[in-house]
Amino acid sequence: MMDSVHIELPDEVKKIISTLESAGFEAYAVGGCVRDCLLGRIPTDWDITTSADPSDVQRLFYRTIPTGIEHGTVTVREKGRNFEVTTFRIDGKYSDSRHPESVTFTSSLREDLARRDFTVNAMAYSPAAGIVDLFGGQDDLKDRVIRAVGDPEQRFGEDALRILRALRFAAQLSFDVDKDTEEAVRKLCGTLSKISAERIRTELEKLLLSEHPELLVKAYRLGVTGVILPEFDSCMVTTQNNRYHCYTVGIHTVEAIKAAPADRVLRLTMLLHDIAKPCCRIIDSMGRDRFPGHADKSVEIADAVLRRLKYDNDTRRKVLKLVELHDEPLPEGAAGLRVFIHEAGRELFPMLLEVKRADIMAKNPSMRKDKLAVIDRVREKYDRILADGDCLGLDELCVNGQDLIALGISPGKEIGEILRRMLMDVLNDPSHNEKEYLLDKYVKDS
Ligand code: CTP
Repeated sequence: MMDSVHIELPDEVKKIISTLESAGFEAYAVGGCVRDCLLGRIPTDWDITTSADPSDVQRLFYRTIPTGIEHGTVTVREKGRNFEVTTFRIDGKYSDSRHPESVTFTSSLREDLARRDFTVNAMAYSPAAGIVDLFGGQDDLKDRVIRAVGDPEQRFGEDALRILRALRFAAQLSFDVDKDTEEAVRKLCGTLSKISAERIRTELEKLLLSEHPELLVKAYRLGVTGVILPEFDSCMVTTQNNRYHCYTVGIHTVEAIKAAPADRVLRLTMLLHDIAKPCCRIIDSMGRDRFPGHADKSVEIADAVLRRLKYDNDTRRKVLKLVELHDEPLPEGAAGLRVFIHEAGRELFPMLLEVKRADIMAKNPSMRKDKLAVIDRVREKYDRILADGDCLGLDELCVNGQDLIALGISPGKEIGEILRRMLMDVLNDPSHNEKEYLLDKYVKDS
């Protein structure tokens, strides 16, 4: 049960554990932080499990927040950082695969660890006790396996989100999923439909941002995407029999996700960039698959998916713009490029180059060289445009609405129209971004 492994706890965690122990309670770092330390990864947060009741925790620490008292969780603030301190508990029956109807506090660490999802997440550590590993978590870390604690069906029955979490952890940690756990994923994935969109979104995003987003294919084979992202299933069965491609739409999508930097907006864009291909597919007279209008239609479907997953407006706006433009040819001339950057948005344009690069990397390798060369040339021109400080938007135009009002033009549509014409002129030739020139040309004549 005990082990001589040493984990270097942050000072705040040591202090919380020793304060609880001095008051006669047991306390341990638990869950993800123990797992990550044993893997040599830096934990994102430190959770503490204790035999103390929430009221004891509130009494023993100066700054506490009652985050989830009914589930036994009190947040302790130490040196500006938050630490969740949760009383040992046994979860009651989950009536809806989402929430335990009740939780019962217990004095047994074993019972607390036994209610957790996976063996690698069910270990505790304290400087006094060392590692407490009652379910083979260290062996599974060594074998790189995600295995439910005890009966997988029971664990998934308690919280169906764990079905997706199994795949997310496998993707993040480069682990396999244990055979029995995988069978339970296949059997129970339908119950994911009871889980809130926000919780699904969090796990799906972690999977997409992981080192192995290709676990999405396993999710498809096990029936998981059929429940949370059926649009992806259609992609998996849509061929792309033409010279540009070498994979189905689904595999191309996964390869494109992998090829993109691990950024939320970029990976979501790659997930959704071809999402309408299944409904746009036609076979031309030469027997080749073609997908006319797929970018615009993908914007529509991507919008529906992102709304369903309750994404915020800003993420939606960025992803949809990138999906819309992902297949647009990039102008190579400086003037055309400035107009394009203006239309894409300065913030999104460099992201669009990443999207296009990832898209190319997931297509037929024999077409790659020339297409990447275009991106490189455009990137160089873009860097030069930035270095030269060329005007790329109304905010950089040296005439503004006030200037026009001062010249007697009444506020309203006309001003917007004049500014737009000035901007087009300046995008075409940056040397025209000169007040006297622009007013002379566009106001005096108008
Ligand atoms: N846990 C669980 N079942 C869940 C969610 C969480 O048993 N559905 C337990 C696990 O012991 C897990 C711990 O609560 O390790 C903390 O959960 P969470 O913060 O979601 O995951 P971490 O393991 O900390 O991993 P990460 O921070 O990378 O998400």
